[in-house]
Amino acid sequence: TADINKTLPLTGKSILVTAGPTYEAIDPVRFIGNHSSGKMGFAIADELAKQGAMITLVSGPSALISKQPGIKRVDVTSAAEMLEACTTYFENADACVMSAAVADYTPVTVADQKIKKKEDTFCIDLKKTTDILKVLGERKQANQLLIGFALETQNEEQNAIDKLHKKNLDLIILNSLNDNGAGFKFDTNKITMIDSSLQKTTFDTKSKTEVAADICDKIIALIK
Ligand code: CTP
Ligand code: CA
Repeated sequence: TADINKTLPLTGKSILVTAGPTYEAIDPVRFIGNHSSGKMGFAIADELAKQGAMITLVSGPSALISKQPGIKRVDVTSAAEMLEACTTYFENADACVMSAAVADYTPVTVADQKIKKKEDTFCIDLKKTTDILKVLGERKQANQLLIGFALETQNEEQNAIDKLHKKNLDLIILNSLNDNGAGFKFDTNKITMIDSSLQKTTFDTKSKTEVAADICDKIIALIK
């Protein structure tokens, strides 16, 4: 048809998207993880690809498959591996959407053999992981767009604004768990977007595909 080669809003733009949880190894058979399904990040990657963007999807462990063709998938396991992949691919990206649920702490040491049960109580020493988004915020060039998420259970908006500033973001997407049926294990999300001019937009509870479309519209409006 006549418009098959029509330019889409994000044609020519490279966007890095992260999705899923990270797994932090304790020993050869155990890890510390979280309940992130990766659905939000995969939906965002699909939506941005539909609008013409070239996508690199850095994903933690997830069984999901991208619906759109041509998405470059980079599989990682730990927060350290995700950091490495993100710093590599951010360099030539026009934008990054950091929707992965990165572990905040990782074991200080990884046992090289399966840990045997002994005492009645057992402690694992943890150390902070690197804040990937903060590192990208420090490296961000004037023509790059950096988007993060915030998951809060109290002082939601103020905490989200604090993260926006601390990590040098252009947009933060506040994920509300308060609403029944929204969040991690569900197929719906309730979000509020806050941009760097502190303009705030609140959305109704929607399917993750619809939420991804709202985020994509905002990226189209902001991208340089
Ligand atoms: N994030 C990251 N690297 C980490 C931790 C978080 O890049 N090591 C990113 C997440 O992907 C998200 C944003 O930072 O886009 C906010 O994550 P969140 O867990 O809400 O906030 P934290 O900064 O980790 O602070 P806290 O968990 O204490 O609220
Ligand atoms: Ca965190």
